[in-house]
Amino acid sequence: MPGDLRGNRSTRSFEIPKLSVSSEPGFAPSHAPSIQDGQSLFVQVGCATCHTPSLTTGLASSAALSQKQVNLFSDLAVHHMGSQLADGVTQGSAGPDEFRTAPLWGVGQRIFFLHDGRTSDLLQAILAHGSQNSEAERVVDMFQSLSKSQKQDLLNFLRSL
Ligand code: HEC
Repeated sequence: MPGDLRGNRSTRSFEIPKLSVSSEPGFAPSHAPSIQDGQSLFVQVGCATCHTPSLTTGLASSAALSQKQVNLFSDLAVHHMGSQLADGVTQGSAGPDEFRTAPLWGVGQRIFFLHDGRTSDLLQAILAHGSQNSEAERVVDMFQSLSKSQKQDLLNFLRSL
C-alpha cells in the first residue's frame, strides 16, 4: 500500500546514518570495543608473558627486514607446558612436555590449534595450557576466573589477529 511504503521509507531514512558508521578495515564496528578489552585482558592475565606481542628484527642487509617490528605474539622460547600438552616426543634438546610458544599472528585464520592440531576450538587450546607443572598454569587459572563476557572479549581479540 502506498501509505505503508511511505511509512517504511521515512523509517529507513532515519536508520541510514547509524548504518554508515565507518570503522577500521577488518573490524566489525560492534566488535571493536570487545577486541580492545580482550587485548587488555590478554596482557592482564599474563598470556603476553609468553605470547610477546611484538619483537623487533635485527640488522639485516635488506632494508625491508632490518629492525622491523613484527607482531608475532611469541617469545620464540621453549616452555614446559605440562602433561595435557605433552606428547612424549623428545626433539633435539626439547623434552616431551616442552614446546615453543606458538605465534598467535594469524591465529584467527587457522583451523587447527596446538602442535598436533588436536582441536579447532580456541577455548580448548587455551585450557590445554593449564595442567599442573605447566609454566602457564597460573595464567590459565587467571583466565578461568574471568567473567563469561571477558573470556569472550579475549577470544574475539585472538580471532582478530
Ligand atoms: C608459559 C608460556 C605460555 C603462556 C603463559 C601462554 N601460552 Fe599459549 N602457547 C604456549 C605454547 C608453548 C604454545 C604451543 C603449544 C603446542 O604447540 O602444543 C601455545 C599455544 C597457544 C595457542 C595455539 C596457537 C596455535 O596456532 O596452535 C593459543 C590460541 C594460545 N597459546 C593462547 C594463549 C592464551 C589466550 C594465553 C593466556 C590465557 C596463553 N596462550 C598463555 C605458551 C604459553
